[in-house]
Parts: sequence; structure tokens; C-alpha cells
Amino acid sequence: MKTFPIGVLLLSAMVGRSLFGASPAPSPAQEPAERAARYEAVSTPQFVQGKRLVSLLGIRRGDSVLDLGCGTGRLAEYVARTVGPAGKVVGIDPSPQRIAIAQRRRREGLSFAVGGSDDLSSFPDASFDRVYLNYVFHWIENKAETLRQIHRILKPGGRLGISTGYRDRPSRIRSLIRESVREALGEVPPDLFLSPFRLSARDLRSLAERAGFRVVRLQILSFRAYAKDPEAVIAFLDASSSGRFLSGVGEQERSRILAVLRRKLAKIRTARGIEMEHPAIFLVAEKPR
Ligand SMILES: C[S@@+](CC[C@H](N)C(=O)[O-])C[C@H]1O[C@@H](n2cnc3c(N)ncnc32)[C@H](O)[C@@H]1O
Repeated sequence: MKTFPIGVLLLSAMVGRSLFGASPAPSPAQEPAERAARYEAVSTPQFVQGKRLVSLLGIRRGDSVLDLGCGTGRLAEYVARTVGPAGKVVGIDPSPQRIAIAQRRRREGLSFAVGGSDDLSSFPDASFDRVYLNYVFHWIENKAETLRQIHRILKPGGRLGISTGYRDRPSRIRSLIRESVREALGEVPPDLFLSPFRLSARDLRSLAERAGFRVVRLQILSFRAYAKDPEAVIAFLDASSSGRFLSGVGEQERSRILAVLRRKLAKIRTARGIEMEHPAIFLVAEKPR
């Protein structure tokens, strides 16, 4: 089994909430440069998972590929090597700061732009052989429209690949976060860990089919990684969630929750570090010819 952290999901649970009168979740469009740089530094787990996703997608030399939510562009750069000079890879992401890092990777056949799932209108119909979203779909609210747009811009026979957080099985760290919130605040709002943006494998299949796709593969793959200490776990959660981890609580509540979480994480630390594990849904679907 491949190993790599996972964090994103756990956090995603807490995203988008405005608990205890705190401000709403930050938007990727406003991400500060230092957080984008931190994401680049801690994103190896996503990169490992992304390589798995693109291997399932069967990307070929000469293909035209869209990386939707490309982050700092590591995976797009990897895919560009597969498609070669005759192919094309385009990466878009709503964070200008992540795209600024991605632009350093730009070369012939590999380009990046600020953009997101809410507007794919600049891409003509039937213009891509492959479109993938690596660890992005659980951040997208309007999933049905996003899938319809991806269907439109894919060529007949083209394929969509998604790896995304899984709603139905809480990881150990997610449980620890929940316990920490309860201990620190005395309560856990009932929907705290049920981000409306996460979904089950069955829901993902049904959304893809309703958008006109034929599902080729749908599976849950479990990934693991090790963080050296509690601070590394928290840094990963913050960067991989674009700052949305615990953003739904005020500063004082956040400090109290983190103090409890640090203690709990320290207790599960072994000689290998702190294990971060979670299952993710992998979907490959085809636009029928
Ligand atoms: C966990 S990161 C994954 C980044 C990249 N795919 C990777 O494998 O490293 C999630 C990314 O989704 C982006 N994102 C958030 N909302 C989005 C949307 N509506 N459309 C496209 N990307 C989005 C964020 O800016 C962030 O870069």
C-alpha cells in the first residue's frame, strides 16, 4: 500500500462552517503567498495519490489534459512528461498564489491559469482527452454543474478522473479532532464533521452518470503517511485545506482546540511518527462516443 498523509479530508469536515460567530471559511482566491508555499512543501501525499489517479486514467502521448484544481502544479508537470511534446497539459486553480508557483514549471505544452470549477466557459466543447481533479472535488459545492461542464469539454471517448475525500468512514485523526473540539468547547455541533461538499462513492457514481458519463472504475483506496510530530500534522491540515482547517471557530477557541489536539497527537506518536490514514474515492468515467 502506498503511504501518504491525508489530512485534507479531516479538515474538510470543518470547512465552510461559521461556528460560534466566527468568520466564514477563507476563499482560495485570497490565499496568502506563504500558505501556498507551505502547500508546495507538504503536498507530497497528494502528489503520490495523484500519480495513482493518473495511472488509472490511461493518459497517452499526445493527449490533451486539464488538471482542474492543480494547486502548485506538481502533478501537471508530471503528466506533461507523459503526454510529451505532441500533447498539452493545462492546469487551473482559484488560488493566484498557487498558480504563481505553478508558473515556474511552465514550458512548451504545459500552461497554468487562475480559474476554477465555477467557470470552464473558456474551454471549447470536446477539447480535452482527459480531465482530472486530484483531491479537489470535496471542495466543490456545485458538483452536478461541474460534471456537466467537464462532460462538455471532453472529447467523445475522453475520460474523467477524480480522487476525493470519502464521507462515510472517519479516520483516526478526524476522530481525534472531533474529540478535541468536544473537550475544548464542551460540544461538537452536529454537522461539524459532515461537510456538505464530501460525498459517498454511491453519490459520486450517480452524479457522474447523471452528467452523462459511463463509470469505468470506482473504488476506495486507503492511503497512509507519517508526520514527524503534532505540529507537522497541524501544518499539513492547514495548508492542504487552504486555511479552512478550524476556520469556523474564533481564535481563542482554535487555540484551545489545538492545545488538546496536540496532546492527543503526541500520544499516538510512534518511532515512525504520527500515522495519518484515510480512505479516498477514486473514480474513472468515460464520455461515451
Ligand atoms: C488539496 S489541494 C490539491 C491540489 C492539487 N490537485 C494537488 O494534487 O496537489 C485542493 C486544491 O483545490 C483548489 N480548489 C478549491 N476550490 C476549487 C474549485 N472550485 N475549482 C477548482 N479548484 C479548487 C484549491 O485552491 C487547492 O489548490
